[in-house]
Amino acid sequence: MKKERKILLSEKEMPTQWYNIVADMPNKPLPPLNPATKQPIGPEDLEPILPMELIKQEVSTEPYIDIPDEVQDIYKIWRPSPLIRAYHLEKVLDTPAKIYYKYEGVSPAGSHKPNTAVPQAYYNYKEGIRKITTETGAGQWGSALSYATQLFGIELEVFMVKVSYEQKPYRKSMMHIWGAEVYPSPSDKTEAGKQILAKDPNSPGSLGIAISEAIEMAVKDPKTKYSLGSVLNHVLLHQTIIGQEAKKQLEKIGDYPDIVIGCFGGGSNFAGISFPFLQDNLTQGKKTRMIAVEPESCPKLTRGQFRYDFGDTIGMTPLLPMYTLGHNFIPPTIHAGGLRYHGAGSIVSQLLKDGLIEANAVHQIESFEAGIMFAKAEGIIPAPESTHAIAQSIREALKAKQEGIEKTILFNLSGHGHIDLGAYDKYFSGEIKDYSVTDQDIAKNLEELDQMGFPI
Ligand SMILES: Cc1ncc(COP(=O)(O)O)c(C=O)c1O
Repeated sequence: MKKERKILLSEKEMPTQWYNIVADMPNKPLPPLNPATKQPIGPEDLEPILPMELIKQEVSTEPYIDIPDEVQDIYKIWRPSPLIRAYHLEKVLDTPAKIYYKYEGVSPAGSHKPNTAVPQAYYNYKEGIRKITTETGAGQWGSALSYATQLFGIELEVFMVKVSYEQKPYRKSMMHIWGAEVYPSPSDKTEAGKQILAKDPNSPGSLGIAISEAIEMAVKDPKTKYSLGSVLNHVLLHQTIIGQEAKKQLEKIGDYPDIVIGCFGGGSNFAGISFPFLQDNLTQGKKTRMIAVEPESCPKLTRGQFRYDFGDTIGMTPLLPMYTLGHNFIPPTIHAGGLRYHGAGSIVSQLLKDGLIEANAVHQIESFEAGIMFAKAEGIIPAPESTHAIAQSIREALKAKQEGIEKTILFNLSGHGHIDLGAYDKYFSGEIKDYSVTDQDIAKNLEELDQMGFPI
């Protein structure tokens, strides 16, 4: 029989609900706290920045939430996304492991981010909002939200981390095509940006700083809301369409993963691919390993501390329970800009604390090597973020070879790297280096949280 390479679903087979893992978690995520009173915040505290429907999803414990018809219609422009068996990569690695990847680079913006950008824009539109602010790291999220907001006639202002603004000019072009305004962050548009620039006029920026700027802009205007591309519960929820599709696709060919892998910025693509499988671990006693992969230069999951911290740098957000390196931590300027975030989502953090998922860190050079090996074998040039998941998949496939075991590995190829070619050029000219963060650096930032009296 000829080998089947792509496992596809028809539009009719696309899932019509998102899966909410909170319903099945043995320990629910701790509540966000008001930074002044240290008491749990209520839904009304989030109202200045989020529409009510997203606030409801943020605190929901229902296992499934319907995907609105309008959102399903837009999803169908690129969904269901293909699941692909990486036969060529398996051959190059000479591994007994079966490697599958779910390819999210087929979306208009080229990553998984439109899966949440579209419903976020939709719910804002339904509640009469006509302007949104946001942050973006590498520009994937900003471009996804630019695409989504203009579908609903919503204006968008994007604060783009300065180092990425300079490294990835074509992401800016995409945002402009879809009608958004883009500012390099830190900027002089906000008090938060000015405060950072006063301390360091050459600040490369960070996701934490850009979030502060975008929230400040939103709270200044009662008709403007803010939108976040990762971390929050409702964002992770929207991404579960990825794993639900993958499960159906594997079911079609009678397979099931032993290991599920996703790269990790704030947790959304990792959650998207893994939570529908983690559901089977939690409810049916399956033993699939779920591995979140972060950069060695921003190791919040592997070397950070589980405690309350701000989601942004200046302290505009509530205190969130998370694995964190401290909100003042400015990660080295690696090319996987979407992974340069000091913290992690509350749900994923609780799951890691409870030993229900694993985390690993890989260096930038190993990731680029993995990305290039993948591009040569499978043809697709991956986003620098996604290469972290590829590197871990290669590690697992080689381990399976050493042990002589046939493992089934599934990873999420969260985006393509067509706008990141400059980073690959730098790799070839030897300009890419590995960065290590010292224990002292991490301890210093975490001590600041102690001094601020943030609960552990
Ligand atoms: C292609 C890609 N993958 C992964 C990420 C990491 O974010 P998250 O952890 O929310 O999936 C990003 C963030 O910008 C991204 O652009």
